[in-house]
Amino acid sequence: MNSKDIGGDLTTVHAVQWENGVLRLLDQRQLPQAEVLIELPDAAAAAAAIRDMVVRGAPAIGITAAYAVVVAARRRYADDPRNWKQAIETDLGLLAEARPTAVNLVWAINRMRQEIDAIGDGDPAPALERLALQIHQQDLAANRRMGELGRALLGEQVAVLTHCNTGSLATGGYGTALGVIRSGFAAGQIREVYADETRPWLQGARLTAWELLQDRIPVTLLAEGAAAQLMKLGRVQWVIVGSDRIAANGDVANKIGTYSLAVNARFHGVKFMVVAPTSTVDLDTASGAGIPIEQRPAEEVLACGGRRVAAEGAAAWNPAFDVTPAELVDAIVTEKGVVEAPDARKMAKMMSL
Ligand code: MRU
Repeated sequence: MNSKDIGGDLTTVHAVQWENGVLRLLDQRQLPQAEVLIELPDAAAAAAAIRDMVVRGAPAIGITAAYAVVVAARRRYADDPRNWKQAIETDLGLLAEARPTAVNLVWAINRMRQEIDAIGDGDPAPALERLALQIHQQDLAANRRMGELGRALLGEQVAVLTHCNTGSLATGGYGTALGVIRSGFAAGQIREVYADETRPWLQGARLTAWELLQDRIPVTLLAEGAAAQLMKLGRVQWVIVGSDRIAANGDVANKIGTYSLAVNARFHGVKFMVVAPTSTVDLDTASGAGIPIEQRPAEEVLACGGRRVAAEGAAAWNPAFDVTPAELVDAIVTEKGVVEAPDARKMAKMMSL
């Protein structure tokens, strides 16, 4: 089976592609100017692609890692059928370390490791391939479900603001926050979509705008510094974002700038929705204080599109994510249900369903 077969017509954009046993990624660094596919021959190439943002977005990097484990197992088994399980640990470690904040990465690797532990003699690739495809398919199904659950919260004729990219490019397809926006637009409930350009990597300007326009959903971009003014003028009713890791108490790590949006939203009476599958929920981390925040290279801030824009000699601080306290979140939407005004008790109850 190939990954394109599992989405049906739900998604036109395929960030992570598995075809006849070959793993390819749509190179998101080159979008929207060029649509280039990169083939990943081994786990080291997959880890580098995740680190360098060829693929990004919490669920998409988890799915990439799952397929990369299949590729790695095939190689390790061919090299040494008796000791492949030991040898593959190096690959699993490389993949797990590629990016630290999105918990979906280790979640997917742990699921693959459990399958590895259960495999007996013989070629491990078919069983691992089945599981990787299932992880991909389940993410797509979760997005579809969250789209419906989130849409039901919106009300009628609303305008929404989103941040970063949470669509098909960031997931197994359809998207988390962007899935809610797709569902809400299709149902006629959303009349306007605003997207932060999302400095420094410009996921909003380059990726979210591209995806929405492919689906003929009109989008208006703004610099994230303009968001408070947008809210003050009453031009949006909801902020809808995804997440890279949700702690047990409902604190939400997401793309840098999300926290600022949440503070602004509460001040202006705008509702704040977080949309993420349960693979993003980390019950082992008690609160946002325990979530590791990735620091990315200074060049991402000092330059734009490969061209230096900052004054020579300036330093840069570049945390890729921030943490929004649960008290600023109106609703967390997962495929298991909606948690309004999240706290540890409500999160644990939702996860136990
Ligand atoms: O650095 P990125 O582009 O990987 O960050 C992505 C985000 O912050 C998304 O909002 C998050 O992964 C949720 S996507 C479904």
